[in-house]
Amino acid sequence: MTIAIGCDHAGIELKNEVISLLNSLGVECIDYGTNGSESVDYPDFGEKVSEAVSSGEIDRGILICGTGIGMSIVANKFPRIRASLCNDLFTAKMSRLHNDANILVLGGRIVGKDLAKEIVRIWISTPFEGERHCIRLKKISQIEERLTKHGS
Ligand code: RB5
Repeated sequence: MTIAIGCDHAGIELKNEVISLLNSLGVECIDYGTNGSESVDYPDFGEKVSEAVSSGEIDRGILICGTGIGMSIVANKFPRIRASLCNDLFTAKMSRLHNDANILVLGGRIVGKDLAKEIVRIWISTPFEGERHCIRLKKISQIEERLTKHGS
């Protein structure tokens, strides 16, 4: 599995921690920035990671901003993206089991680094449960197709 990772200035410290964790677990990860400490706009980095996952170029993504809200809003604009803001372990597990989330979003100003690393561990190792959840994900895809076709 390859993971695309990105953040804004509020997520940079946590992003570096998450990259170290992924490296130590042998999970390939591609850093889409930001990498400086100056204030940046989260949509610019959310877009890069979401596009890479939406196009199928990269398997999954991790996005970090201050609360995780802005990055979630951006990521879920993209076709085929199921981005989940997970600031606790249970949500992280369920986002994979039930929602087959392909982007994990974290709030860099909300979760401490140890909890965040545990969230990432669970999120990358928990499989999608399939079965009845496939029907629900299919309905989401159908909504997406309908909205794309009608342009609204
Ligand atoms: C940046 O100050 C902050 O607004 C951003 O990181 C994020 O929390 C937005 O949702």
